[in-house]
Amino acid sequence: MNLTTELRPGIDQVGYVDYNVRDFHSYDTRLGATYNAYLIRDEKVALIDTVKAPFAAQLKRNVASLVDLEKVDYLVCLHAELDHAGALAAMVEACPNATVVCGAKCKDALEGFFDVSNWKFQIVAPNESLSLGKRSLTFVPVPMVHWPESTVAYMPEEKILFSNDAFGQHLATSERFVDECDVAKVFEEAKSYYANIVAPYGRQVLNVLKAASGLDIELIAPAHGLMWRDRFGELMEAYAAWASGTYAPKVLVIYDTMWQSTELMAEEIYAGAVEQSQKIAKENPGAPRLDVQLMHCRKTTLTRLAAEALDAGAIAFGSPTLNAHLMPSVASVLAYFQGLKFREKTSVAFGSFGWGVGGPEAIQKALADLKYPALTEAPIKAKQRPDAEALAKCREAGANLANAAWERYLGDKK
Ligand code: FEO
Repeated sequence: MNLTTELRPGIDQVGYVDYNVRDFHSYDTRLGATYNAYLIRDEKVALIDTVKAPFAAQLKRNVASLVDLEKVDYLVCLHAELDHAGALAAMVEACPNATVVCGAKCKDALEGFFDVSNWKFQIVAPNESLSLGKRSLTFVPVPMVHWPESTVAYMPEEKILFSNDAFGQHLATSERFVDECDVAKVFEEAKSYYANIVAPYGRQVLNVLKAASGLDIELIAPAHGLMWRDRFGELMEAYAAWASGTYAPKVLVIYDTMWQSTELMAEEIYAGAVEQSQKIAKENPGAPRLDVQLMHCRKTTLTRLAAEALDAGAIAFGSPTLNAHLMPSVASVLAYFQGLKFREKTSVAFGSFGWGVGGPEAIQKALADLKYPALTEAPIKAKQRPDAEALAKCREAGANLANAAWERYLGDKK
């Protein structure tokens, strides 16, 4: 099969829609993914980015359906990560007259991945333009969004921003443009992508948004998912909010459980937060409702936990004690959040124990490492089954988390 989509006369999407990928180095791609590559046929022929290595043959077929591979002049590499550069070696081999065009840092990374001794390179400087004839590409480095060599390319004549990972989503669909799909779903996946891939680099993202605001854009063509033909304001606003860590009115209760004791505590914290959110709603008619979510971390993927945590103002983490430590599922969430560097959240640690100590205490320490202010100096604990006193403490903590999340939300509104 070959399947391409025309963006403009002589500019086509020639990448691969991967309906079957379910794990993208731990990212839960339950809706699949795409690896977008763009072919520009002008006086010169340029291919922007490639696909994952296993789909190189598909990329070659798509390109060859539009142009003789010997006529490809440039293989542009905006990002050396292998979901985009994985098929580059195959394309270098298939396109004997092509020169690889990239920044100096990208060349360094490519040298680490491939034997490039026979590759022809043209290194482009920041903001340098490459003429393709009637159209041109200007290369703008966007370091750490999300690798050091990450670059976007702007085509002023067509007002197209080839944004690589920025503004992408992991979503396999038969449509290629956001406006042809369920837009709310696309934004949800864009947010998940941001939270899981780009979140540690919020400051750099804000710089990119500033630079992009000066460009006249009619089409954003990312390297993953659907292309944006409109809603630029909404998209930039959403990215700015995610990059700034703007709080939504939201509380998460994240936990694991062995014999349902920690689960009883989690449910009580949840109930306390919901009850308080109902009071807040009554006192603030017309205001957004506080969203409270109960999330069992062996039944919820890390990807979803991160997407929900990005803008939460308060989180409770619970684990029973297992071998004088916390449960591995909870440990992995805390470790994942450590790397994602979300903005601080008011937090509480809780959990049950039998004869040993370690689970809730390890969470309390992890919260301090995350620099999430804790509601209580010590975790809320229960021996075997939580008694009425422990459950009352949980209920109170839930209400306090709701208040804290509401205050954080209001603070950002000012
Ligand atoms: Fe889609 Fe950073 O690669």
